[in-house]
Amino acid sequence: MSALWQGRNGRTIMASLLGLSLAVLAIVLLAKPDSGVAEVAVTPPPNQEYIGTKKCAACHFPQFRIWRTDEHSKAFEILPAKYQEDAACLKCHTTGFGTPTGYKDASTKSLASISCEACHGPGSEHAKIALRTVEEEEITPELEQIVRDSIYKVQPGNICISCHEAKRHKAHLDYDKE
Ligand code: HEC
Ligand code: HEC
Ligand code: HEC
Ligand code: HEC
Repeated sequence: MSALWQGRNGRTIMASLLGLSLAVLAIVLLAKPDSGVAEVAVTPPPNQEYIGTKKCAACHFPQFRIWRTDEHSKAFEILPAKYQEDAACLKCHTTGFGTPTGYKDASTKSLASISCEACHGPGSEHAKIALRTVEEEEITPELEQIVRDSIYKVQPGNICISCHEAKRHKAHLDYDKE
């Protein structure tokens, strides 16, 4: 057991959710012809659903604690009350707004503000695949790589700028500050 794994919560999470996804991923990885290139840009499994910050925090508590002190974690609360249901604001002040499993309303509270998945992309498959690291006695480098490859380190496509378009050349969307 390496120190890397100590202190992480969630060891008791049931294995049952792991399911088919890991097997499918393993097959895909094994079947991939060796290109001879050491580093290949990885695309996480598609069609992942947003699962919310609490689920991520179960395994990534240090990152969660840092995020709690970050302005991103308050991006929803800072909206004046009358804008908290305004789609024009929610697209940049919540996570995944307008997508099927993203933020909708108070019922999807764990996706309010700029949560983990706004930058890393939806992580339902990643969370399932990562469950194996909770069960295993020893985490091999291969398993760690499979887990890492199942989520973006940062989503591609200038993800920061998709919300931060307003600084410098453009003004922030006008709103009533009262
Ligand atoms: C069951 C445990 C578990 C859950 C739940 C989980 N992760 Fe992970 N995650 C891991 C493990 C294990 C790694 C491998 C690296 C490490 O040990 O931190 C990892 C790696 C990552 C990485 C690094 C990717 C890279 O390219 O190196 C990111 C980013 C990440 N997780 C984000 C998330 C987000 C966002 C969520 C919630 C949607 C989440 N994780 C949920 C266990 C988990
Ligand atoms: C294109 C993305 C985007 C949209 C749309 C958007 N915001 Fe923002 N908002 C941001 C970003 C990014 C910041 C962080 C500071 C900055 O870059 O201006 C921010 C900051 C804020 C702040 C913090 C104080 C300030 O003015 O800097 C408030 C309050 C705010 N927005 C309210 C709103 C309201 C209300 C709406 C809808 C009418 C809205 N925002 C629409 C991206 C957006
Ligand atoms: C505003 C965007 C943003 C948000 C929100 C965010 N992250 Fe990250 N995260 C990043 C970036 C960028 C990196 C890459 C840092 C690097 O390579 O040094 C990263 C790296 C990581 C890593 C890789 C290991 C590490 O610490 O470098 C993990 C795990 C992770 N984030 C988990 C989370 C979790 C869990 C949350 C929510 C509680 C979260 N992140 C919220 C942008 C974000
Ligand atoms: C989904 C929209 C969204 C994404 C994606 C996003 N941000 Fe933000 N960011 C915001 C909003 C909204 C605020 C204002 C939050 C507040 O004031 O509480 C903010 C605040 C910030 C701040 C502090 C306030 C300031 O003066 O601008 C920094 C720095 C920042 N973001 C950097 C980043 C970086 C770097 C990334 C990409 C890794 C990123 N953001 C991705 C929406 C986003």
